Amino acid sequence: MSQKLYIQTVGCQMNVLDSEMVVADLRARGFELTDRPGPADVILLNTCSVRAHAEEKVYSNLGRLRQMKLERPDKIIGVIGCMAQHHQMGVFQRAPYVDLVVGPGQLRQLPALIEKIRAGEGRQMEVGLGRKEGSRAAVARSHETFDPLRDPQMRPNPFQAYLRIQIGCDKFCTYCIVPSVRGPEQGRPPEQILAEARRLVETGVVEITLVGQTVNSYRYRHGDGRQTRLADLLLSLSKIEGLRRLKFVTNFPKDMTDDLLAAVRDIDLVSPYLHVPAQSGSDAALKRMKRLYTVAQYREMMERIWATVPDYAVSSDFIVGFSGETKDDFDKTCELVRWARFKNSFIFKYSVREGTKGAERYADDVPDDVKRRRNHELLDIQSEISYQDHQKLIGRSFEVLVEGPSKSAVKRDQDEGPLVQLTGRTHHDRIVCFPGDKRLVGQFVDVTIFDCTANALMGEVITQPAFHGSLVRK
Ligand code: SAH
Ligand code: SF4
Ligand code: F3S
Repeated sequence: MSQKLYIQTVGCQMNVLDSEMVVADLRARGFELTDRPGPADVILLNTCSVRAHAEEKVYSNLGRLRQMKLERPDKIIGVIGCMAQHHQMGVFQRAPYVDLVVGPGQLRQLPALIEKIRAGEGRQMEVGLGRKEGSRAAVARSHETFDPLRDPQMRPNPFQAYLRIQIGCDKFCTYCIVPSVRGPEQGRPPEQILAEARRLVETGVVEITLVGQTVNSYRYRHGDGRQTRLADLLLSLSKIEGLRRLKFVTNFPKDMTDDLLAAVRDIDLVSPYLHVPAQSGSDAALKRMKRLYTVAQYREMMERIWATVPDYAVSSDFIVGFSGETKDDFDKTCELVRWARFKNSFIFKYSVREGTKGAERYADDVPDDVKRRRNHELLDIQSEISYQDHQKLIGRSFEVLVEGPSKSAVKRDQDEGPLVQLTGRTHHDRIVCFPGDKRLVGQFVDVTIFDCTANALMGEVITQPAFHGSLVRK
């Protein structure tokens, strides 16, 4: 009888991708996927270490699995991904009933490690080298991932896919654990990326999002000295027939080159949407964060985006309450958000990470209630901007890629059968909600906007262009 696999994923796009690969690999070896931990023979938690909260969530989930393991000791419980790499033996110490600890660069070994446990060889751990535990090449090798295995059934939507073009990160922002858990920055060879993209499109993918921690720093040096950069990749990928949309995340402000912006402007397939985290609007804070740019340089980059890509959307990330952040630093962050008018911002309270330069050098000296207050305040400023900018879009129509039902509420509409509230995204990555038939999922439809919140646009599908006017309810 085939073994059952349950997998739970937290963290960023990298983990979503890794889980897809792991499932593809194990399914190819006869595992069957289940959506509950109860019936599973193997339970894997794919984990994130970016903030303490993400780790605590994993340990509390593990706590819940403890009883299950006591009742069925043959169940294999594995902790994989960034927290496995970060805590290593610490995972076994905190949760002694865990059988398996595997870092993001060792996922390829998972089937063999499961076999070893089944053969009675006891608990297993495989992790990559620390950044100072070997030559750059050796450390890089120990963090390599296995991208080519894809499994459409594991993706939230089979027609949308992430495609990793870069592994690791070399920026070493002082607050961030990612360079230690994901290893050195490595660009994947362009031929590999193109081949994977073609395979994805052949299996029905219409939207590809290229992912990397600093995706616009992507660089691949060929044997003959030539270099491929992100703009070159976008151009090659845009020629794949059947591909409709191309996005890329996350961008590093300092690497936003003019040729990349020109590619965003000139290649229709490429979404006019850029996620470029600023993290702070204060030079003093940016310096302690070691972000390698000043606020003036970030503003200059925004001005280049406005000048080059006429109809653009930019989103950002911010950390509030980083070590030493004064009221004045925070006010400057608010000022930057008001000036830049981001499409949206992800705002995080600083969480000190063991093993980073930030933890070593600076005290976590902003009290939690101040962090929380600043988080809310900044979010309010951003929400007001998002709401105002969304209002300007009322009455306009956008092509939306339908992603799925948004709420369970099923609306009945006379003769038309059950209509559900659907959600999708515009080319600018704006979320649109509208009533429609579930069969529209995976299709591109034109939607006219008649209302909005800070987070989403509300619209109606344009069925007959002649009736545009009547569909726009004001
Ligand atoms: N590589 C991307 C994102 C990395 S993690 C980039 O450079 O932008 C995603 C976001 O988490 C970061 O942009 C940052 O805002 C936040 N983050 C990272 N480390 C953090 C920490 N220690 N505490 C709070 N937020 C953090
Ligand atoms: Fe972390 Fe900075 Fe690298 Fe982003 S660029 S992953 S924030 S170290
Ligand atoms: Fe978390 Fe690892 Fe991504 S630490 S944010 S899952 S790279």
